[in-house]
Amino acid sequence: MADRTKYFIGNWKMFGLSGSYKILERINSFIQRDKKNNKKYKVIIAPPFTLLDSFSKRFKGKKIKIAAQNCYEKDNFGAHTGSISPFMIKKTGVNFIILGHSENRALGEDDKVIKLKVSLAIKNKLNVIFCIGENKKEKKNKQTLPVLKRQILSVLKKGYKFNNIIIAYEPVWSIGSGRVPSPVELKKIVIFLKKFVNKKIKSKIQPKLLYGGSVDKKIIYNLKSVRELDGFLIGGASKSSKNFIDIIKNFYK
Ligand code: 13P
Repeated sequence: MADRTKYFIGNWKMFGLSGSYKILERINSFIQRDKKNNKKYKVIIAPPFTLLDSFSKRFKGKKIKIAAQNCYEKDNFGAHTGSISPFMIKKTGVNFIILGHSENRALGEDDKVIKLKVSLAIKNKLNVIFCIGENKKEKKNKQTLPVLKRQILSVLKKGYKFNNIIIAYEPVWSIGSGRVPSPVELKKIVIFLKKFVNKKIKSKIQPKLLYGGSVDKKIIYNLKSVRELDGFLIGGASKSSKNFIDIIKNFYK
């Protein structure tokens, strides 16, 4: 039977100080109390690099898991000022990593570099949350599917197994804008992507597919009607334990 576990993943981007562990503590205690649903979902939070080591130690063995937000594409150690390797991330005890985020693509990260990052992250036994998504202009020009296909084919290698890669569809025009695709539109894209990935990457395991972009406690009511989705990648609303918990609560209402 297909695994129906849902993922609620928080991407903190450039947010968080050492005391921000309290946000995770509140989310973690909610999960513990949520006996009715807590076997149906997993929660992962991606703080900045500065907090990975302390958060991963503090939440070791707890319900909540920690993810990194990016990494360098080569080597374990090297003369790469300001860079952090997947090897170093794994050594902090972290097991997940977000890669290919559009905010990093906008800074010049291309498919070729993302491919190297994904490959090295998997080699270091990190689970990858791989972000794809079209921008406003591409959407307007009806290029959504060709863009998504290109992003997938130029990064994911044939034979990758989807027990360690989650795909997050994050339309760039939706991030931080309060605008989301309609459920009908989203459903079409999700079904298309799952079939496409299965056929092209030839994995026996169904890929997990998340949606990201302006997810909050209200919009979740619309998004939850897309049953094919395996969860959500949440930016702004993941910085508050209340907002994040409300998203989970409203999803299961
Ligand atoms: P928002 O939820 O703030 O739109 O951000 C989404 C995102 O970029 C998550 O990776």
